[in-house]
Amino acid sequence: MEHNLFTAKNYTDPAIFELEMKKIFSRCWHFAGLVEDLSQNNHYLTVQAGYNNLVITRNDRGGLNAFHNSCRHRGMKILEGSGKMPHSHLSCPYHDWTYNWQGELKGLPHEKTQFKGLNKACLSLKPATVGICRGMLWVHPDQDATPLENYFAAMSEHLAPYRIEELIEPKGETFDTVIAANWKLVVENYIDHYHLAQLHRGTLNMYDHKKAQFRFCDDHYYFWEPLSTEFHRNLTSNSPLPLLMEQDSPQLGTFVPMLFPSFGLAESESSWSIYQVIPLAADKTRVIIRTKVKNASSLSFLSQAARSAKFWTSRVKPKDSNYPNNHPLGSADFMQEDIYVCEQLQKSLTSPYFEFGPSAAHGEAPIRGFQKRVLRWLKSS
Ligand code: FES
Ligand SMILES: [Fe+2]
Repeated sequence: MEHNLFTAKNYTDPAIFELEMKKIFSRCWHFAGLVEDLSQNNHYLTVQAGYNNLVITRNDRGGLNAFHNSCRHRGMKILEGSGKMPHSHLSCPYHDWTYNWQGELKGLPHEKTQFKGLNKACLSLKPATVGICRGMLWVHPDQDATPLENYFAAMSEHLAPYRIEELIEPKGETFDTVIAANWKLVVENYIDHYHLAQLHRGTLNMYDHKKAQFRFCDDHYYFWEPLSTEFHRNLTSNSPLPLLMEQDSPQLGTFVPMLFPSFGLAESESSWSIYQVIPLAADKTRVIIRTKVKNASSLSFLSQAARSAKFWTSRVKPKDSNYPNNHPLGSADFMQEDIYVCEQLQKSLTSPYFEFGPSAAHGEAPIRGFQKRVLRWLKSS
């Protein structure tokens, strides 16, 4: 009989959360945005990578740099959010220490009188590492990070064959929410094959879960499943959006990988989404979903939606029609179903009477595989 490798404490203890921030989230590559989020020179964006706030700059010649967004004087945050650089250099708002594009400390008020003998060369902004992969910006808090290509190498052939840069992101479609659950519960729910045909019986039934393929590639999780027969039969009418894949492609279906530690993708036959899981506290996690679709005319989106409406009206159903539609289980919305489950699990885990039951040999193998990897990272020196 297979068993969960974690105890309830792994999801509730702030000390374990702190260890994860140091041992995992300070040592991994982090999604920092889509390439188009930082396409203009003299712009920047900031990103939280575990306990590290980082800033990526695109300088006046188009080059990218990444630093810890923390002044070398007292640690003040130098830049906030994203946008155009307010100055031609990086300037700390607290006591006006200034740094050049390379992060070198160039000036500070009253240097000669107040900081006699100061060696500015030792006080550059701490460097981080930035990279681009598949139309996405990635950042690592360490300047000697494993190269980005190496980090994702095992996954490269297990992702949808899309050129992400050529897809478009419809405005106003970002989903951004805070879930009252530990980040690992959110990841585990994402990779749990066992729940797909149960919790999402009425909402994700356009895929054939029985034919799903999944396994770990290094620390990353690969998942692919084909379309259901009914959805596939009349795909050009049934698809809610213009298709991204050829109808006769052997890869026709959906790729739903989880890149370690907590960055999911949902690369379906007609859309491409990121699923960013950001730990905030032991019992609080932010999830951001951004979606890109085919670069096609508004008319083709409207006509595809109209053509497919009948199929979806009859196909998508709540998990349980005894619930009202303002309850997640009556919502017919798979995200609401998932959020509800994660939050209810988190509540149960705080009970001193709680204990995990047996774990499904095949359908929950991804959960145990993920837990094994988390434990290994936590034990690493
Ligand atoms: S903290 Fe930045 S100049 Fe003082
Ligand atoms: Fe789910």
